[in-house]
Amino acid sequence: MIPCQRHLFDLPDEIAYLNCAYMSPLLKRAAAAGAQALARKCRPWTISPDDFFADSERARQLFATLLGAAADDIALVPAASYGLAVAAANLRCAPGARILLLAEQFPSNVYTWRELARQRGAEVLTIERPPDDDWTGAVLARLDERVAIAALPHCHWTDGGLLDLAAIGRRCREVGSALVLDVTQSLGALPLDLAAVLPDFLVCPGYKWLLGPYSLGFLYVAPQHQDGRPLEQNWIAREASEDFARLTLYRERYQPGARRFDVGERSNFALLPVSIVALEQLLAWGVEEIAATLAARTAAIAARATALGLSTTASDRRAGHFLGLRFPQGVPPGLPERLAEERVHVSLRGASLRVTPHLYNDERDSDRLLAVLEALL
Ligand SMILES: Cc1ncc(COP(=O)(O)O)c(C=O)c1O
Repeated sequence: MIPCQRHLFDLPDEIAYLNCAYMSPLLKRAAAAGAQALARKCRPWTISPDDFFADSERARQLFATLLGAAADDIALVPAASYGLAVAAANLRCAPGARILLLAEQFPSNVYTWRELARQRGAEVLTIERPPDDDWTGAVLARLDERVAIAALPHCHWTDGGLLDLAAIGRRCREVGSALVLDVTQSLGALPLDLAAVLPDFLVCPGYKWLLGPYSLGFLYVAPQHQDGRPLEQNWIAREASEDFARLTLYRERYQPGARRFDVGERSNFALLPVSIVALEQLLAWGVEEIAATLAARTAAIAARATALGLSTTASDRRAGHFLGLRFPQGVPPGLPERLAEERVHVSLRGASLRVTPHLYNDERDSDRLLAVLEALL
């Protein structure tokens, strides 16, 4: 178990912040690195051509290490939607083929596929929420030769409902479907065995469980897709772009690996140093250790909430870092107001309360949430 790391964050005592799934706070050190990085733009002569590459490569490598991939497999992207658009532009999807999604999946991972289905004459197949929370079984039951693309998360963004991605990846390969993953709500807090899952594309914005800044995320591109078509044609993605004096010797070839898919102006001088500090810290803690620590915290909250009459997804069917508390009689009146008064930050999603702690939370935060629930139930 990792002891509470609140001292590394700027969280006032009166705030019980249990909402990492909404947006993580930055580490104080990451914020300081960002402030310093932004200030460099006041003195542009201190930014050298090498700086267009060094931090991008460092962040790429750190993310690759976290994922168990190679730096060559990673592109820098501004949002999940951007990475998903790269995937959509580079996957086969014949007329009449199916694109498989979960019910109530995050919109960026729905609209992308609705649009592709429209363009290609394909069909979106939405897996209904299984009453027993067995998303894996429900996906496997519909994953057959008619499916061209399965576009899925590792856990459902509303309540942490877990998918067995190794089993789903295996079935995808058996039936010839591509596998596209949006791991925004899990990577960094839930281990993922890349070699077992073998996704075609995987996207992860940085501002939630990667503890990074907004507008800087990562796209994994499997080696077989790395000669694909980028969404845009920016100069730095081309071969020999390091040589600023010869940029007009236009090149047909790209930088190696997945770098061709980097978003334009990916050398984000202000944000990359923030992301680097955060990724280094995550690697120092270890994802397995983070996962075990957060699983213990949510399990303790789940047990106390269950005693008050709330229900949750069974622990083996939800991601350990992610808890959805359901109100069998509906959300009690006054709950949002009471949470706000007590400065307890969680997310209300329909009839479920999303509770997503991180290492900065302590027992007092859990007590304050439970006290609000107890008062209203
Ligand atoms: C599952 C999931 N994917 C993606 C995002 C963010 O998408 P985008 O980066 O396209 O804004 C969120 C934000 O809440 C999310 O929960």
